[in-house]
Amino acid sequence: NRKVTTRRLIEMKQRGEKISMLTAYDYSMASILDQAGLDVILVGDSASNVMVGNITTLPMTLDQMIYHGRSVMNGAKRALVIVDMPFGTVSGNPLKSLEYAIRMMKETGADALKIEGGEEVIPDIKKIIDAGIPVMGHLGLMPQSINKYGTYNVRAKDGAEADKLIKDALLLQEVGCFGMVLEKIPAELTKTVSSQLTIPTIGIGAGPHADGQVLVVHDMLGINKNFSPKFLRRYADLHTVMTEAVQGYIKDVKSSDFPNDNESY
Ligand code: KIV
Ligand code: NA
Repeated sequence: NRKVTTRRLIEMKQRGEKISMLTAYDYSMASILDQAGLDVILVGDSASNVMVGNITTLPMTLDQMIYHGRSVMNGAKRALVIVDMPFGTVSGNPLKSLEYAIRMMKETGADALKIEGGEEVIPDIKKIIDAGIPVMGHLGLMPQSINKYGTYNVRAKDGAEADKLIKDALLLQEVGCFGMVLEKIPAELTKTVSSQLTIPTIGIGAGPHADGQVLVVHDMLGINKNFSPKFLRRYADLHTVMTEAVQGYIKDVKSSDFPNDNESY
């Protein structure tokens, strides 16, 4: 089973094969996703929320993302691995952005980077792509800009913001991105954007017309109980499975049922 490449994702769009993507932040989870046959693993800065317990993604540092990226790379053999550039590392100083991007690539061994933003970060993205680093864009709801928006509500519902999103998507394609995430935008807008692009769109809360889908793995496995947006489909209830397992262990330790003779030396 050959390694997934950025070129392959573009070919998948051409032949109408949907792209499957999930997040992972560590070796064990990445191994499971990779061996299950997932196309793309995203080392998202959502690590800030689900691994660290922060409210926003803003506190995530380059070094923390490198740690997660390296861990995922150790478990991913076939899947394409994309690492998020964290807040503050791509902010309008292309040489600085390139320096951070090169560190991320060198120290994680990842295949590609993801960067939030449109027109504002095009010079940064150009610099990074020119250095031979594949970049995936990210438009619509951009959690690193939460302090600008004030909410995590659906984006680009009005004409002006939708027009800017379409313009940004075309700019990202023009500058050489191999794809882009569209987060929490109306399904019809995703349809419009996806049909205008030759590079794939990966949706989250963006409806069925994206060329692929992505979810945060803790959310789709039901490890998180307290996060239930409309777009989320839960494929397991690991919160219950894990809670019952831990309670079983506690009970067996307390009752001296564990360990038994077979479990002892
Ligand atoms: O950080 C993340 O998990 C993401 C996805 C939700 C696209 O950026
Ligand atoms: Na992210």
